[in-house]
Amino acid sequence: RILIFDFGSQYAQLIARRVREQNVFCQIVRHDLPAKRVAELAPKGIIFSGGPSSVYEPNAPQCDPAIFELGIPVLGICYGMQLACQTLGGKVGRNHAREYGRADCRVLESTGLFENVDASTVVWMSHGDQVQAIEGDFLPLAETDTCPIAAVRHRTRPVYGLQFHPEVSHTPQGSIVLRNFLRNVCGCQGLWKMQTFIERSIEDLKTRVGTSRVICGLSGGVDSAVTAALLLRAIGHQVACIFVDNGLLREGESDLVRKTFRDWFRADLHVVDAKDRFLSALKGVTDPQQKRKIIGKVFIDVFKAEAQHIPDARFLAQGTLYPDVIESGGAADGPAATIKTHHNVGGLPKELGFELVEPLRDLFKDEVRRLGTELGLPESLVWRHPFPGPGLAVRCLGEITPEKLATLRHADVIFLDELERSGWYRRTAQAFAVLLPVQSVGVMGDGRTYEDTIALRAVQTDDFMTADWSRLPEDLLARASTRIINNVKGVNRVVYDISSKPPATIEWE
Ligand code: XMP
Repeated sequence: RILIFDFGSQYAQLIARRVREQNVFCQIVRHDLPAKRVAELAPKGIIFSGGPSSVYEPNAPQCDPAIFELGIPVLGICYGMQLACQTLGGKVGRNHAREYGRADCRVLESTGLFENVDASTVVWMSHGDQVQAIEGDFLPLAETDTCPIAAVRHRTRPVYGLQFHPEVSHTPQGSIVLRNFLRNVCGCQGLWKMQTFIERSIEDLKTRVGTSRVICGLSGGVDSAVTAALLLRAIGHQVACIFVDNGLLREGESDLVRKTFRDWFRADLHVVDAKDRFLSALKGVTDPQQKRKIIGKVFIDVFKAEAQHIPDARFLAQGTLYPDVIESGGAADGPAATIKTHHNVGGLPKELGFELVEPLRDLFKDEVRRLGTELGLPESLVWRHPFPGPGLAVRCLGEITPEKLATLRHADVIFLDELERSGWYRRTAQAFAVLLPVQSVGVMGDGRTYEDTIALRAVQTDDFMTADWSRLPEDLLARASTRIINNVKGVNRVVYDISSKPPATIEWE
């Protein structure tokens, strides 16, 4: 594995992605991870990320200098290079001209780190400081007009530095440089594949849980489904899955979970029909945050009661993903610079008394999807859009009634069907229908109607923190609208939401 030391860079995750793309396993860790711990983890190489600070400032983030004594190859990027050079005797200072953006870089040594890179190549720079002198210990490997020391290697140690950012797409040959570091310097063979991950996870899970039983909550979403599928592969008969039907699910969702896990995976699946409980708790409630609170609380009660029916359960599995781990600054990681107060992070409270297993905590979302496919989950589950915990309750504006939910479900499934048929489902990050508490006048035959409005929402986003509305083709919208108005009782108007986030949110409540 490779360890990526995060010095507060916005690009640490991108570096991780690029390393994984070379089929090399990596983890982001705190910049001050002690050398002793690094030695235990025995990585094949270390990458220092960039960062916003100046290495010569008093409180600038440092690394444990003993790391350089371990003999493990180090590649410093931007701040990381400056830190490595300063620690090993070089001099860093503020440049008279800051350098941002594209720069032409001339390669001075075309072996090792720069093997197969053009003699003159475009790189992406973003720095105010730079390494100004490297004494006799380092050799320059590349230069730009404003940065004579744009890349270095140490004469006697396996320590390298890049002033530019090889991880961004604006450095077209950056992936070659990274691959050279991984292959030529660290000796990584690029054998990390999903299959390797599966085998290693199975070993880890078996060692961790022994003969105890593990409860796995299913939500109908990808992450929990993949978690369950992995657990079932590893320790099949010890797993008990709980699926709470809260009556706020989409059309066919509960059937899909049953079919997949009960019929195909032969899992011990506990489906709790709690529709009435949720709906009666939500009666008369119109405030969105109040709805969320009630749903969260009832969910915990229902889940807890069901879990008590499972004897010897010691562990609870959760589908925490890598970005959640990084952003909440958890465990061995912890740049914590950008803490996401995201609704999806959270889940069940500690008081349930279980030990947590999180077998997906090293994976990115697209890796989770690949894993799901390898584990044999159906495409419809693997490619499912995220769905909020409170479900249709936050898409049925105002008070929730079974009738309104039925209307919304029907409109939603028509819209999703049109997206699927046209190939647009996978091209949008999230898409759904919303039932508005607005009646408007329409005309049907000779009579006037006074019926409900459905809003359609489809967005493009990578991280769900910001989003843009999807430019769906007009004829797709037209088909969805006609089908909804003709088939969904009580709806005479369909509108399309063209707001971006911010200032709007993805959900309507
Ligand atoms: P917003 O509406 O805040 O949504 O732009 C961003 C993402 O979060 C999802 N979301 C939720 N997920 N519980 C959840 O588990 C919630 O209460 C909740 N509210 C919004 C939303 O679907 C989108 O993916």
